[in-house]
Amino acid sequence: MLGLMNDVISSKSAEGVLTLIFNRPAKMNAINREMYGALADGLNEAAGDFGVRAVIITSEGDHFTAGNDIKDFMENPPTSDDTEVAKFLGSLLNFPKPLLAAVKGNAVGVGTTMLLHCDVVLASPSANFSMPFTSLGLVPEAGSSYLFPLLVGYQRAARIFMTGESFGANEAKEMGLVSTIADDVIAEATKIANQIAQQPPQAIINTKALLKASKHDAVEAVMKAEFELFSMALQSEEAMMAFMNFMSKKGK
Ligand code: COA
Repeated sequence: MLGLMNDVISSKSAEGVLTLIFNRPAKMNAINREMYGALADGLNEAAGDFGVRAVIITSEGDHFTAGNDIKDFMENPPTSDDTEVAKFLGSLLNFPKPLLAAVKGNAVGVGTTMLLHCDVVLASPSANFSMPFTSLGLVPEAGSSYLFPLLVGYQRAARIFMTGESFGANEAKEMGLVSTIADDVIAEATKIANQIAQQPPQAIINTKALLKASKHDAVEAVMKAEFELFSMALQSEEAMMAFMNFMSKKGK
């Protein structure tokens, strides 16, 4: 069974439920290559482990994640399929078992877009979602340019992507990004995951496959196109200026 993944992603497992935890609260759980790699490994191992019936992604500290680690992006821009972030996105797209997310505080960038792949998303009242890709000179990723308009309608998605504006737990619930708002979001996610874990496992896997089947190939194709544009954008002047701006504000 999975133990501690590494210093910045931890995991715990009980009654068929594996919990993967962003554990870098001092950096607001910004996701670096090491974390993407550990997340991909965690999902891949969970997919192949009969004992794991459901996975919860959550975080230590007050926030879910500040999204991609900007410093890491500047120093090691992911430009091929053979990078940790690409592996994570592939694992997310193809994860065959129930995937839950328990979100508190900020969920920035991929912190929001990964939720579009989850089967059940719970948010605390403090949750705040944002996808400020354009503000950073970037483009939407993780299939969000397809999945988000499908969820909320074209114009609402375009407005959110193009302004970079954030939204709270109530709006996320109303748009269907989140199913439940709970004060103790991890306890609530664990309760639902335990219910799922008691169901016949093959029936659950087949049900998820059916739920995802009609969109899978389209999402995969969009993710590929997004990745190409994203990789180019990462090295653009617009992105470099936005990154430098962030780093200089933080005195890094
Ligand atoms: N990449 C790298 N480091 C990050 C980070 C990121 N995406 N987000 C936060 N951090 C770090 C900060 O540099 C800071 O580290 P420091 O204390 O060593 O300077 C620490 O995490 C805490 O963040 P801070 O910015 O001080 O918190 P805040 O409450 O003032 O602001 C945010 C919170 C989320 C609004 C702000 O951190 C932010 O805008 N982060 C970038 C989000 C982003 O653009 N993500 C990429 C999406 S593709």
